[in-house]
Amino acid sequence: MIALKENSSLKAFNTFGIDAKAKYFCTIETEDQLHELINTDLFKNEKRLLLGGGSNILLTKDFDGLVIRNTVKGIEKVSESDEHIHLRVCSGEVWHALVMHCVKNNWGGIENLSLIPGTVGAAPIQNIGAYGVEVGEVIENVNAIRLSDGMMKTFSKDECRFGYRESVFKSELKEKFFISSVTLRLTKKNHQLNIHYGAINDTLMKMNITQPTIQSVSDAVIKIRQEKLPDYTLVGNAGSFFKNTEITAQQFHQLQMRHPAMPHYPAANQQVKIPSAWLIEQCGWKGKKINHVGVHASQALVLVNFGEGKGEEILSLATKIIASVQEKFSITLTPEVNIF
Ligand code: EPU
Repeated sequence: MIALKENSSLKAFNTFGIDAKAKYFCTIETEDQLHELINTDLFKNEKRLLLGGGSNILLTKDFDGLVIRNTVKGIEKVSESDEHIHLRVCSGEVWHALVMHCVKNNWGGIENLSLIPGTVGAAPIQNIGAYGVEVGEVIENVNAIRLSDGMMKTFSKDECRFGYRESVFKSELKEKFFISSVTLRLTKKNHQLNIHYGAINDTLMKMNITQPTIQSVSDAVIKIRQEKLPDYTLVGNAGSFFKNTEITAQQFHQLQMRHPAMPHYPAANQQVKIPSAWLIEQCGWKGKKINHVGVHASQALVLVNFGEGKGEEILSLATKIIASVQEKFSITLTPEVNIF
């Protein structure tokens, strides 16, 4: 039996700490419970929201439907060779706890993704990434359950169609599947440490580390994140609120003439990536506070709820930021966070 709550507060289940309510709310602890739920009239008739850690959503109103929180747990070794280990991880596992488990066992590949909030199941949906690594690089496959009929399907890495903060689960198949587990391919030796993302190398040097290991890279990432990003248990936030911006080379050259200091990085398909945080900072938003919400003082890409903020206030701030970046740079920022 699945316990169902009515008119239930979601405040504890979204990292913005927004006090919106769900018409119906339940927690799924096993895959069998999901299959059971799929067969109910309630599931078939109500609007649905699948929730992992609630770290990438903004609730602007009460949710008029069924919120399903996924806490399905389990980590299983699928296969192992001298060089690699394949781990199947249930989607309700906490992402950072998985990273710590792998770091402790000296399994390499996800150490740069330390301290990212959220669950394992949410990781492939937006292809979480940080400090030069994206989770798609180490994903072997994703197991999912179709919500319309309970059919189970394994998506190969190619079928997941990973891109920058993108996957098939965020586009064509949005809200069509429940991700049940993710299989990761990690290294047991000859680790490919990725320390070229500027801040990691500098931080390792400050930590007096000359021979980095998986553990020290993870420690460095945690240190950088703790310095730059607010802790959602203290100040509500959902990490980067906007995606970084990709523009054409032509657009870039025109903008660069007017803004020679604009930071830029090469992106796929001859596009140029511009840090949206820089665009926002140039428009004067960094550290700004409007009533209960604002822009984080050490990372302009992060919007924050100082306590009693409402989802609409965050959305209104985001809308103002989009308008001013549009006016100054003719660039349209895209939210990274899912807005409901
Ligand atoms: N910058 C500014 N002002 C700021 C912050 C940054 O101008 O307030 C500029 C600087 O030029 C800096 C550049 O932006 O060199 C990049 O900044 P940072 O390394 O902090 O990363 P980001 O591009 O702003 C992305 C991810 C983060 C991830 C970091 C590190 C997105 C949307 N965000 O941010 O992911 O942690 O890189 O890899 O791609 C998240 O998705 O929630 C998240 C936090």
